[in-house]
Amino acid sequence: MCGIVGAVAERNVQNILLEGLKRLEYRGYDSAGMAVRSPQGHLQRRRTLGKVAVLEECLVAEPLPGRSGIAHTRWATHGRPSEHNAHPHQSGERLAVVHNGIIENHETLRRELEAEGYAFISETDTEVIAHLLERESRQAGDLLAAVRRVLTRIDGAYALGVIHAEEPDVIIGARKGSPLVVGVGIDEAFLASDPLALLQVTDRFIYLEEGDAVRLCAGGRIEVFDTEGAVVERAVQTFEHGDGAASKGDYRHFMLKEIHEQPMVIAAALEGRLGERSVLVESFGPDAEALFRQARQIHIVACGTSYHAGMVARYWLERYAGLAVQVEVASEYRYRQVVVPEGTLFVTLSQSGETADTLAALRFARQRGYLASLAICNVPGSSLVRESDLTLMTQAGPEIGVASTKAFTTQLTALMLLTLALGRLRGQAEDEQANLVQGLRELPGLVARVLELDSAIEQLSMAFAEKHHALFLGRGAHFPIALEGALKLKEISYIHAEAYPAGELKHGPLALVDSEMPVISVAPNDELLDKLKSNLQEVRARGGELFVFADEQVGLIEEEYVHVLRLPHVHEALAPILYTVPLQLLSYHVAVLKGTDVDQPRNLAKSVTVE
Ligand code: G6P
Repeated sequence: MCGIVGAVAERNVQNILLEGLKRLEYRGYDSAGMAVRSPQGHLQRRRTLGKVAVLEECLVAEPLPGRSGIAHTRWATHGRPSEHNAHPHQSGERLAVVHNGIIENHETLRRELEAEGYAFISETDTEVIAHLLERESRQAGDLLAAVRRVLTRIDGAYALGVIHAEEPDVIIGARKGSPLVVGVGIDEAFLASDPLALLQVTDRFIYLEEGDAVRLCAGGRIEVFDTEGAVVERAVQTFEHGDGAASKGDYRHFMLKEIHEQPMVIAAALEGRLGERSVLVESFGPDAEALFRQARQIHIVACGTSYHAGMVARYWLERYAGLAVQVEVASEYRYRQVVVPEGTLFVTLSQSGETADTLAALRFARQRGYLASLAICNVPGSSLVRESDLTLMTQAGPEIGVASTKAFTTQLTALMLLTLALGRLRGQAEDEQANLVQGLRELPGLVARVLELDSAIEQLSMAFAEKHHALFLGRGAHFPIALEGALKLKEISYIHAEAYPAGELKHGPLALVDSEMPVISVAPNDELLDKLKSNLQEVRARGGELFVFADEQVGLIEEEYVHVLRLPHVHEALAPILYTVPLQLLSYHVAVLKGTDVDQPRNLAKSVTVE
């Protein structure tokens, strides 16, 4: 998804902007661009299609010296990926703008501006902002005033960065519906859509609030204005995660690094949240206990991988907390006439905390009479966190690979903590809770043991490299894990993969099973195992090749075309977390064999901040 970087400094900013763009590459994009005000007072711009490396080459040939500038990575929404659709956009030679989000009334504005003689060069919605700014800057006293006038005309979501040739060393930023942070430097100031883009220059950030505008000036002066235009103080926060997260270290890909970080981050997600025999309800915040006691139902809303985490949690919350649970993808939920019974807790799950549909669902839910909203999220300071009543941070650290791995297993860990917190307040047997708490303590060690199976899984992956389809099966809480396994394979290896609850096999997908359709099954040692075993027979009888991930205590026999990978024994309820890991490794190795762009798969974005 699009990324913004801006800088005003006493030195040349080109390389700061370029490094920022590189750090945002993980989000997914199709073109990149930069505009810098030259020492002679001219705006100069470079834009290229494809990777930031292409822009970098262009800048080697034609550098952009100057002390203030803005840059952008674009992910096409309005208009195909091309150089002329890439940002920054200009109106004339005096001003340049970068924009994340979508301007919903751009067509009306375009007609209005065309009628006044403005010529449009791109197919983007963003270009209307450039022309509106050009028009308003003729009337307004300064660039900030012009931006504020433009904001009253545009509907939709935006994070903006603007520079003007005639206002040296000034950047104006504004946000509504898309994230934007200010990086606080020493005698210099920065702007970005994600703090990660600026960790090379600062770890101190101001997280702009909805409707805020900001003026960054030479000497590091930063002024934030609210929707009314009044100067407001916003706290400067120190970024919690070290810069190490933004580099691959010794790993070939971020995704592999993040898979291997799981023992550490699951331990981090548990830190300070477990008592000796029970979960510490206070870790959900001071108001949590009173609110949790009133909870009668739960609605969980999320997108993508986070949605799969919600599906697993439904099994847990029903079984251990006795609560009715509904789980839904945010893009559907937000347009339904949802009926909210009294005492319903609204839970959002999001790695980024900026997913447009999940945020819109939260805002919609706030009008519907929920008991309270809880965000389970990985990004402190994100919109979702700031707008929810309660939060539980997943502590996974920045996740760079577009395909989510450690963010998912830490979400599951957090959801088990939620289950136990609610269970405890609703009379769950003390021994049952104590067993689960013990199981959670052992989990990081067990995940580390699964990671030792990496080369065995790499061997298995070879059977998939030439295949075009794959079928994943699971039962109970492992059905969502099968869905997540199929999603991972699709996302990074581009192999068509589907997942079914194993019991549905006979109701359709069995027709597809032959020697060309590998079937992957998650078969931990739980009460559904015997049923799953007969499903596996059905697949074998049709010549399908089976890959079974099973508990080391399960009596499944390996034979020709039946590959069994044995995993360490784990508390039955926590098996979905453990069994996710070999499926992540399988997808990873298949993608590497296929030679795809593992960390930035085609057409996908890390954080989908537009609808
Ligand atoms: C995108 C990402 C997925 C992610 C989904 C939801 O599609 O590529 O990995 O699961 O968004 O993102 P969130 O940040 O809300 O968890």
